[in-house]
Amino acid sequence: LAIGVAVAGGGHHAASGYPDPFGEDEAYRDVIAEQFSSVTHENQLKWEFLRPTREEFRFEGADAVIDFAEANGQQVRGHTLLWHSQNPRWLTSGTFTDDELRALLQEHIATVVGRYQGRIVHWDVANEIFDDKGVLRTEENPFLARFGTAIVADALRWAHEADPDAVLYLNDFNVESIGAKSDAYLALATELLAVGAPLHGFGVQGHLSTQYPFPSDLETNLRRFTDLGLEVAITELDVRVPVDAAGRAEPDDVEKQTDYYGRAVAACVAVERCTSLTLWGVTDRYSWVPGWSPGEGAATVLDEDLAVKPAFTAVADAL
Ligand code: XIL
Repeated sequence: LAIGVAVAGGGHHAASGYPDPFGEDEAYRDVIAEQFSSVTHENQLKWEFLRPTREEFRFEGADAVIDFAEANGQQVRGHTLLWHSQNPRWLTSGTFTDDELRALLQEHIATVVGRYQGRIVHWDVANEIFDDKGVLRTEENPFLARFGTAIVADALRWAHEADPDAVLYLNDFNVESIGAKSDAYLALATELLAVGAPLHGFGVQGHLSTQYPFPSDLETNLRRFTDLGLEVAITELDVRVPVDAAGRAEPDDVEKQTDYYGRAVAACVAVERCTSLTLWGVTDRYSWVPGWSPGEGAATVLDEDLAVKPAFTAVADAL
């Protein structure tokens, strides 16, 4: 079981006024190097970063994380190729024919997966393609709008051609439990496998909140996917808690958070084909949560000073 972490950079960091955490924070880099066997780019492999213009690919940010991982003997999880969010404006507001749009995605996948062939173990090929009701996000996702799920099958094929050894995933949030959304994935995965699409895994992000009950059917749900012959992973685990203006959490919530972390890890550990578990940030210093969910925070296993929280111990104990 690979234990991974999202490496900060881009996204909300770019807007925060912090220096680039990955580039400049030595203590942070040391934690990543020492505590994890896998890394994921938090933002640096998204279209927004790789594709400033239609003609250009900009790989420095992504390369730096991969070089770091290799220097530290870590594997890399690639995130992501086909998503509705963090796309450049030239893509979302451009006018393209169907053929042009399809060719753009094909070129993107061939170029990016091809560049890192043999160096990225897992790819989140398609991210967040269903809404919480299990309806395909055709409004928000320019590729799904034109081609529906057929483009997902194509994306898998293109990724597989570019790196036949890469393990190819669908990935989403709010799919920890059995429900409309995870059912939609189960149906789509069944269909894709039936037509021979190279789908190998299902990723459950795991953005949890102590304000909701723990998804106690997580393990059962993961097994629905391994029963199809897929592997599974928890890909973006964090557990946010209500915080005051100073970012402090109540002891009860800290206790609940600790419990949630331990149970999420235990669910993955219990499922033989749950092959990796990634934390969406390791320290509150850089977590995306406070910026994204006002009134919540303290969602990671290390505090702002990189000190261990009870959640860290819960994760370690559950492994
Ligand atoms: C988040 C990043 O953590 C932020 O830095 C960025 O501003 C927005 O995206 N699901 C995903 C991730 O698949 O890519 C998102 O990452 C969190 C939710």
